[in-house]
Amino acid sequence: MSQTVVDRAEGAVAFLKEKVKGVPSAAIVLGSGVSVLEGLSDRSSFPFQDVFGISPSVHGHSGAVTIGRLSDAADAPLVAVFRGRFHLYEGHDWSVVTLAARVVALWGIKKLLLTNAAGGLNRDYHVGDLMVLTGYRDHLHPDFAKTGGLPAVEKPTTVCSNALSDALLKAGDALAKEDSSFRPLRQGTYCALGGPNYETLAEIEMLRRLKGDAVGMSTVPELLAVEGTGTMAAAISVVTNVWRDDEPMGGHEEVLEASKQASRRLDQLFRKVLTGS
Ligand code: HPA
Repeated sequence: MSQTVVDRAEGAVAFLKEKVKGVPSAAIVLGSGVSVLEGLSDRSSFPFQDVFGISPSVHGHSGAVTIGRLSDAADAPLVAVFRGRFHLYEGHDWSVVTLAARVVALWGIKKLLLTNAAGGLNRDYHVGDLMVLTGYRDHLHPDFAKTGGLPAVEKPTTVCSNALSDALLKAGDALAKEDSSFRPLRQGTYCALGGPNYETLAEIEMLRRLKGDAVGMSTVPELLAVEGTGTMAAAISVVTNVWRDDEPMGGHEEVLEASKQASRRLDQLFRKVLTGS
């Protein structure tokens, strides 16, 4: 890892520590058009430009970190919400797309909930479904800078199988029982492709044969970035479109609209997981 990479994350943590009292108990990264935890109590908000020295260039990523409490209660959990992220397809390198995740780990935040907008590969899925990642396919760049080469795999694990992913699934089950408008969560494999173009039908067919359930352009770098740190990460896809041979795909605007629609359920889910209620 080069010196500047370390400094950008460390600088961001120093900035946030100076502005915020206490370490948040959880952080959330919001994908395209996803909007949750809008009304945090006692909150402060900082543009990515001030925190990281850069802003996202993609519509639907507002580019601010909001930190506040889940409710008015003094002991309500303090959470940090990163509204937007950086992507490889914006021309950023691995060190930049993992910035928020590395800041979360360096700051000592123990839980990281990653969200993304994704295309449905699984033919049973519907627009608006929420899919907890139980595994992923990494079709992005390998992180030579971080690993310093090709490391041995001591024990093949999935970074997604942990207590936080389990908590999401459990909270989703409970919500589906309590509230008929809360659709049961899906669980599946997320395929990360570089983008920014959406897939050809041939690529969709390939990913289906490789047993992918959803496809997107993010999240895997952030999952990998916190592996081996004290931060546990779980990820969830908002299925914003489902690929079918005979249906057009409406592009980024369709993705943003579908994310907005699903955000209410995601908000319910995250509040339940973060309060342990
Ligand atoms: N493919 C890749 N990324 C996406 C998609 C998709 O179909 N939908 C939302 N993000």
